[in-house]
Amino acid sequence: MIKGNKEKTLKKNIDLSKIPKHVAIIMDGNGRWAKKRFLPRTAGHREGVNRVKEIVEVSGDMGIKYLTIYAFSTENWNRPKDEVNYLMGLLIEFIKKELKTIIKNDVKINVLGDINRLSPILKKEIENTIELTKQNKKLVLNIALNYGGRDEIIRGIKMVFEDINNDRIDIEDINEESFKKYLYTKDQPDPDLLIRTSGEMRLSNFLIYQNAYTEFVFSDVYWPDFNTMEYYKCIKEYQNRNRRFGGL
Ligand code: FPP
Repeated sequence: MIKGNKEKTLKKNIDLSKIPKHVAIIMDGNGRWAKKRFLPRTAGHREGVNRVKEIVEVSGDMGIKYLTIYAFSTENWNRPKDEVNYLMGLLIEFIKKELKTIIKNDVKINVLGDINRLSPILKKEIENTIELTKQNKKLVLNIALNYGGRDEIIRGIKMVFEDINNDRIDIEDINEESFKKYLYTKDQPDPDLLIRTSGEMRLSNFLIYQNAYTEFVFSDVYWPDFNTMEYYKCIKEYQNRNRRFGGL
């Protein structure tokens, strides 16, 4: 079967009444994708951006309401300086080039992570994009940038202490649900589905509070090869799961 037909068949098999509300993705394997082609690692990141554009568009069309992508972790600063700079440059390029399409497609941009450590240019572009897309309704695109799950929880605990000290909240009112307001994803539902590409099966400090009852689907393909068809396969696998949330 040619690719177009296969994609259509997969799409038809998706149950539109069981579309996950929130999908989170660990986009892994850019470096290995490039190495396999005797290309520099940066070529993998660049091709990865094309998949970001594709998956954002398909997500909105499928009716997914929140898409969270892991673009840069707090640990990624340990990579060679050139690679870090390249990734930051790609993000600036993505925001600048795609802003029009993002607005046209009714996508609201949100960043999870501490943007103060980013370059002033990137920080400004991000703040501008958040402002210009804040009314958009179709899909929230959370870009996890300088993000770490443990860091997010510690930051949340500090904010709770501040609120308690200033009599804004009573300690008795802190519970699993109310604590969510202190996370970067405040007011958003937890991810229903987490996808990690490239065959690795780790959480890598990603949304560790929010992923408590999330379904994990691992795809063997490297992120730059993760096209619409591979995405549909993951959605289908998710739809075949029986979610019990600890019950029977
Ligand atoms: C993991 O692959 C990927 C990353 C650390 C960066 C992901 C970034 C992008 C896809 C591009 C920028 C994103 C946006 C939102 C425009 P890896 O480098 O760890 O691959 P490897 O495990 O094969 O070495």
